[in-house]
Amino acid sequence: MLDRNKSYAYVYVMAKPVFKTKIGKIYCDDSLKLMKNQLKDSSIDLIMTSPPFGLVRKKSYGNVDAEDYVEWFKDFGNQFHRILKDSGSLVIDIGGAWNPGQPTRSLYHFELLIMLCKEMGFHLAQEFYWWSPSKLPTPAEWVTVRRIRVKDAVNCVWWLSKTPWPKSSNKRILVPYSSSMKHLLKNGYKAKKRPSGHDISDKFTTNNKAAIPPNLIALPNTESNSSYQRFCRENELVEHPARFPSSLPEMFIRMLTDKGDTVFDPFGGSCVTGEVAERLKRKWICCDLSEEYIAGAKGRFNEVDKTLPSKNNALGKVYELNHPAAMWDELDDNELLQPDGGKKRKKKTS
Ligand SMILES: C[S@@+](CC[C@H](N)C(=O)[O-])C[C@H]1O[C@@H](n2cnc3c(N)ncnc32)[C@H](O)[C@@H]1O
Repeated sequence: MLDRNKSYAYVYVMAKPVFKTKIGKIYCDDSLKLMKNQLKDSSIDLIMTSPPFGLVRKKSYGNVDAEDYVEWFKDFGNQFHRILKDSGSLVIDIGGAWNPGQPTRSLYHFELLIMLCKEMGFHLAQEFYWWSPSKLPTPAEWVTVRRIRVKDAVNCVWWLSKTPWPKSSNKRILVPYSSSMKHLLKNGYKAKKRPSGHDISDKFTTNNKAAIPPNLIALPNTESNSSYQRFCRENELVEHPARFPSSLPEMFIRMLTDKGDTVFDPFGGSCVTGEVAERLKRKWICCDLSEEYIAGAKGRFNEVDKTLPSKNNALGKVYELNHPAAMWDELDDNELLQPDGGKKRKKKTS
């Protein structure tokens, strides 16, 4: 039994990877401990991660309450700052949350961003919004029953950096021109001042063969028969319930790292980040608390697909987003808005 009056020296047993490739390692551990004990200062080029989101209702993968989220994240934030190189980036994919019982949003993911910048010294290199066209209209109570909110279809993706000058190039993630841009290039554009005062020079019509993407990422999350899923099914393993699509980490790994750089995912889950990094020849480290998720993650490395699966899925994919006015003249605005903001649930009319 421990004697309370004595002081003991604790020895941390170095965690060993539970899985390795020539360039990657998976650890099954608390990533905070792993960072504190095993990751050196300024050793990582990119931290690409999707932490457990702050939720009002707990999910199976260890989420933290939105209220306590920022406090919980502080130790991680300090370690992220320490292990990143000066040229490095921290990319956090994080979903929003609704406040319990009312149609208002939690501020936790904005508070997280502000804490990381104001207290930890990170810089906001740019904010991205990941729009998943396949998202369902939830929460049903506010969106489809009372009809007082719209579909929440974006996750925030905070791209933070240790200095204002992280290494990066948008040339790595160019996309095809939109049809309207192709039209402009074909038919010409008269150089002139825009109403905003911007001077659009004739350089605007130079055909650079590809466009610089915006900070809105259109990417459905609809994987249904991937080799990871088949591996899990064949081996009766749990599929991770909150995976991001591989194109999300791929975009940032391509833009922010070179071959041979090191990518770390401290909340690795099913190790999507590791799989992409392996394919793109970046060194990688993934860590997750759950043995169950890691068991499935190992299946990603049985045979790494070198044929750019994400590109094959992406060819010709353009997602439609309607102009908000598309139906304004057809929709009734004579029915008065509910003065109580929809607080009283209306009786169903058939
Ligand atoms: C949103 S999921 C990440 C999913 C992952 N991006 C994927 O696509 O599979 C968050 C993960 O963080 C893990 N996690 C939570 N706290 C952790 C900690 N302290 N150390 C390591 N992993 C942790 C959970 O087990 C969960 O798998």
